[in-house]
Amino acid sequence: MAAMKHVIVTGAGGGIGSALVGDLREDGYVVTGIDASVESSERLRDRFPGVTAFHADVTQSSEVDRAVEQAMDAHGVPHGLVNLAGDNRLKPLEDITDNDWHHLVEANLSSAFYLCRAVMPRMREAGGGRVINTSSIFGVRGVNNDAAYAAAKAGVVGLTRALATEFGPAQVTVNAIAPVVVLTERVKKMPKEHLDKQLSTIPLGRFSTERDVNATIQFLLSDGGSFYTGQTFSPNGGDTMP
Ligand SMILES: NC(=O)c1ccc[n+]([C@@H]2O[C@H](COP(=O)([O-])OP(=O)(O)OC[C@H]3O[C@@H](n4cnc5c(N)ncnc54)[C@H](O)[C@@H]3O)[C@@H](O)[C@H]2O)c1
Repeated sequence: MAAMKHVIVTGAGGGIGSALVGDLREDGYVVTGIDASVESSERLRDRFPGVTAFHADVTQSSEVDRAVEQAMDAHGVPHGLVNLAGDNRLKPLEDITDNDWHHLVEANLSSAFYLCRAVMPRMREAGGGRVINTSSIFGVRGVNNDAAYAAAKAGVVGLTRALATEFGPAQVTVNAIAPVVVLTERVKKMPKEHLDKQLSTIPLGRFSTERDVNATIQFLLSDGGSFYTGQTFSPNGGDTMP
């Protein structure tokens, strides 16, 4: 019997991340979840008995390196890395503080860089792998009151393209996903006017579900996803048509 494939998921305790852990386990993957706190790791283990969960602040490269080593000690070099950890703070430009800017760049962009740096060379040594980084529709098109987040998420697309070029010859693929609004608990707290405005631009007339996003990730991890790299996949109901 073939060994079960290992996938590392960051932001695994979040709305999309925790749904993904369940979906990947149903697909037969061994999943290591990484999230910010001891409590979030415990919640993940309670919800998915047997799942491997480590806590790490993914904005700290030393914590990322430690968690990745723990994950590889437990289950070997991963087939997949899914970088879902991220955060957002909606504010008009003049209200974005230096702290907001640095926090959002660290949480959304530096975190993906640290994870890619810790994992991708090991995938190369192992003969290949799949990396999925999380951008956003707001990193692809314009949006009001979200400049720092949008800039960080656009940076994720650039990081993805550069690494796809660098690691393609080693059969390590790197793609970005750029979801439209998913009503996770964090997003439900956003102002109604903001959400109504986002809904009005989606031809299919509804927000995304976690399942819509995860189906894209599952495809990219599957055999069928092997010839895609450097791309940005946007499950967005037609919001943006490049
Ligand atoms: N929900 C949406 O509408 C939407 C749309 C487009 C993109 N995204 C992106 O998808 C990802 C997941 O979104 P979500 O709605 O599930 O968010 P969420 O807040 O429910 O989950 C994010 C998870 O990341 C973790 N996290 C945040 N910072 C961290 C850090 N420094 N170290 C470790 N863990 C950290 C949080 O603890 C949380 O469990 C994010 O990157 C987000 O930007 C979400």
